[in-house]
Amino acid sequence: MSQNPSAPHALEQSLTQQLGDMQQQLDSLHGQLMESQRLATIGTIAAVIAHEFNNLLTPIVSYCQYALQTAQGPTPDMELIVKALTKSFQSADKAGRICQSMLGLARGQSVFGSVSVQKLVDETLLVMARDPKKDAIALRVQVQPDLTVFGDPVQLEQVLLNLMINARHAMLGKGGSLTIKASRCDGTDEVKLQVIDSGPGIAEKHLPRIFEPFFTTKGTTRKGEAKGTGLGLAICKEIVEHHKGRIEVASEVGKGTTFSIYLPAEQ
Ligand SMILES: Nc1ncnc2c1ncn2[C@@H]1O[C@H](COP(=O)(O)OP(=O)(O)O)[C@@H](O)[C@H]1O
Ligand SMILES: [Mg+2]
Repeated sequence: MSQNPSAPHALEQSLTQQLGDMQQQLDSLHGQLMESQRLATIGTIAAVIAHEFNNLLTPIVSYCQYALQTAQGPTPDMELIVKALTKSFQSADKAGRICQSMLGLARGQSVFGSVSVQKLVDETLLVMARDPKKDAIALRVQVQPDLTVFGDPVQLEQVLLNLMINARHAMLGKGGSLTIKASRCDGTDEVKLQVIDSGPGIAEKHLPRIFEPFFTTKGTTRKGEAKGTGLGLAICKEIVEHHKGRIEVASEVGKGTTFSIYLPAEQ
């Protein structure tokens, strides 16, 4: 039996060639996808920085004004000046730290260390400028003592802050309860952090989309209230995953919403 050895060989060669080309295309597309995801993250982070800065600049400006006014007046009150400058210095310092840590996140490099969960919660509550009681929201904090996680404290504070702001927003006008819980998960090396509200809940059709950048249901501007950016939960997810953790949501319409974050405990 005679055979033409070159025919199947040529076919094989051409198939290999095609496969190689396709793989190259796939690699290039994958690279483009990664790049656009990275850019989307940086865009998100830039928007978050702008948002957080806006919050921090307001007290800086007013305290500086305050200090200038008394300094230029007939009887400068040194005590007041020092107090106002201290406050604005603290805010400016915080703005700097947020900027650094968010840029670290964009570059994929952050300063990780041991973070006390109690301290994290306390600091976040301090940053939440408005007292929840003013909005008829009862605040409960249940944090297991001596709980620590390994992470970037500034980034983790952003996560908690965004969740608390969402919870407060959900309960505006009606009031309710906001619970912050933290405990070590039994039998695992994980810490569970929860932000629980008794707000209106999230419609089932929205649930799969809430972590998408720019997804928001806060389209209409209520009086004195900013429109939603849809960036809060996207940044939360980005940060939690950067910490090798995960974020989950459970919500029941008319009952409330629970966000749970699982983070590796400090060894
Ligand atoms: N605690 C909550 N209760 C009800 N809905 C929520 C809650 N948290 C988030 N959501 C929903 O998820 C959407 C996305 O949230 P987020 O990414 O923080 O963006 P934004 O707050 O700017 O709308 C919100 O618009 C809202 O529909
Ligand atoms: Mg939000």
